[in-house]
Amino acid sequence: MDSKYASKIISGDVSDLAGSLAEYKEKFEGKCFLITGAGGFLGKYLVYLLRYMNENILTKPCKGLFLDNFVIGDEEEMVSDGNLIFIRHNVIEPFETDQNIDYIIHAAGIASPLYYTKFPIETMDVTTIGTRNMLELARAKNVKGFLFTSSSEVYGDPDDKFVPTPETYNGNVSIYGPRACYDESKRFAEILCLSFYRVYDVPVKIVRYFNVFGPGMRLNDYRVIPNFIEHALRKEALTIHGNGENTRSYCYINDALEATLKLLFSIVNGEAFNIGNPALEISLNDLGKAVQELFDYPVRINHVPPPHAVYASSDPKRRCPDISKIRSVIQYNPRYDLKKGLGRTIDWYKEFLKIS
Ligand SMILES: NC(=O)c1ccc[n+]([C@@H]2O[C@H](COP(=O)([O-])OP(=O)(O)OC[C@H]3O[C@@H](n4cnc5c(N)ncnc54)[C@H](O)[C@@H]3O)[C@@H](O)[C@H]2O)c1
Repeated sequence: MDSKYASKIISGDVSDLAGSLAEYKEKFEGKCFLITGAGGFLGKYLVYLLRYMNENILTKPCKGLFLDNFVIGDEEEMVSDGNLIFIRHNVIEPFETDQNIDYIIHAAGIASPLYYTKFPIETMDVTTIGTRNMLELARAKNVKGFLFTSSSEVYGDPDDKFVPTPETYNGNVSIYGPRACYDESKRFAEILCLSFYRVYDVPVKIVRYFNVFGPGMRLNDYRVIPNFIEHALRKEALTIHGNGENTRSYCYINDALEATLKLLFSIVNGEAFNIGNPALEISLNDLGKAVQELFDYPVRINHVPPPHAVYASSDPKRRCPDISKIRSVIQYNPRYDLKKGLGRTIDWYKEFLKIS
């Protein structure tokens, strides 16, 4: 068992997630899941879930092939057992195995703006060549489901008329802007996935996540929630780039993964779905205040000029999903409000850093 799975907070989340998927038990029974990006934030929760299912719920254990090249993830925490196997693999190389595969979740990517501006070519490679390799594997293995993890970034900086944003909005993306390596490669990968569905009948599902957060995000990830929490724990000021009026809709990891797996097991193919929590649209300033209120000592907020173009004019003004499409396909009612989600995340960081 590795350190994060041993976490009280994460194991609580994982058993709660397994409970919300109780009616899908037979979809896991004896099946093989290949997960890319398994060392990342979302990938690890999926690994913990499969391990929990094997240890507590399934009669016939599921198998897992977990791929990551650890360009970002934590290799030392990855532990294999007889059914669940970690393999260090860069998905821009084809992956070969004799194992039958039932489901592929392609969650490898470079999602943090700080890292994708540092590694733009790797960011595009994992999302274009990596997705192509996984689609070829899905086709060869005749999988039951292939899920691609896209992003709300495909909408760019949406016009106010399209917020909350439905899947039908075509986006307002800058072709050469500082976020383009991420946004444009996700857009390309989506049409690649749809083409494999249309031409080869690969049962593809695309999810567009809106700011998923929760325990297990690396402190040096530089996405806003771990960044705020790290500063608050060090009793340093939270730093907000610019005026802090831009909004995001934050979605707790359990809510995002419950929807992801229900969609993976659904019969709807060849479609993209927003996954997020529109009830949690909040400005950066108000997010800062929400974090402040969860600490029992004063935490300051500093406004600073954006350190990089990715956080300046190219930073989308509003992000809020319209989730009516996914709700027409699966039962989906996000259950974690901001206070509960942030509270669990802060508790996990305290547990992880051994702060009482
Ligand atoms: N977390 C979010 O809010 C969010 C929002 C939108 C989209 N997404 C997408 O969901 C997926 C998972 O996101 P996350 O938050 O877990 O990100 P993450 O950065 O925590 O994890 C991604 C993992 O992919 C691995 N990876 C990168 N390139 C690889 C390669 N070439 N071969 C093998 N592994 C590789 C990294 O090492 C890392 O462990 C990504 O595709 C991301 O773009 C996430």
